Amino acid sequence: MESYKELIDKERIPHHVAIIMDGNGRWAKAKGMHRTMGHQAGVATVKEITEAATRLGIDYLTLYTFSTENWKRPAEEVSALMGLIFSELEEELFTKNQVRFRMIGDYDRLPSNVQQKMRELEDHTKHFTRMTVVIAISYSSRWEITHTVKELATAVKEGKIQPEDITEETISSHLNTQFMPDPELMIRTGGELRLSNYLMWQCAYSELYFCDTFWPDFHEEELYKAIYDYQQRERRFGKTSEQVTDNK
Ligand code: IPE
Ligand code: IPE
Ligand code: MG
Repeated sequence: MESYKELIDKERIPHHVAIIMDGNGRWAKAKGMHRTMGHQAGVATVKEITEAATRLGIDYLTLYTFSTENWKRPAEEVSALMGLIFSELEEELFTKNQVRFRMIGDYDRLPSNVQQKMRELEDHTKHFTRMTVVIAISYSSRWEITHTVKELATAVKEGKIQPEDITEETISSHLNTQFMPDPELMIRTGGELRLSNYLMWQCAYSELYFCDTFWPDFHEEELYKAIYDYQQRERRFGKTSEQVTDNK
């Protein structure tokens, strides 16, 4: 069979693809292995998908790596994940592919070695422009929105802005994701049909793509398939089909 890569319209590649990388634990369990082995195997997928996304010309790839709610997992799993994030965040992947690294999430809750490594990686890769990989760690939409509301409330209290000046753009420009456009496409692997607190403001009009494949088995062909699927859809943004086709 022809690869989905050949079917993709190269002129209509989404600028921002967000991925909920789910299913590591079940992947490991199905193989009779410890959950941690699933997370380890998932790292190889992160590398493969980053490189494939770079070649396709995607501008922003945001990967949900660890949610605010994931802090509630057994301490042993949390520390294995933090250890993995620390040891696998390699500069080589970014420099080799001219990719900028950014982190979104609650920095302060992370172990200090992870914080330091991420700051260094952000700094060392800030001049790369081919693509930006954003890792969401200790991130959740409700955390992000709560943080933004506090910031805006403080600015109002200090007289820096007026409540009537607050627009959707004001909110977007105060979120953690202020430096990137909203995702056109949101992918979730692992079979669950939910957003689990990921980019809920930003995904107001994203196309959602769910697949059953566990993250460690999600290879580049599946990314091409998701993008092809996205390209078959009509994005109406509340308008009628006639309105959006006439504007083409
Ligand atoms: C996703 O895989 C990775 C993280 C949430 C850290 P899971 O660990 O959630 O895997 P499943 O969903 O239990 O299979
Ligand atoms: C969402 O996966 C978070 C990440 C992939 C990092 P979870 O496995 O934590 O989500 P729920 O709890 O099943 O919704
Ligand atoms: Mg899961």
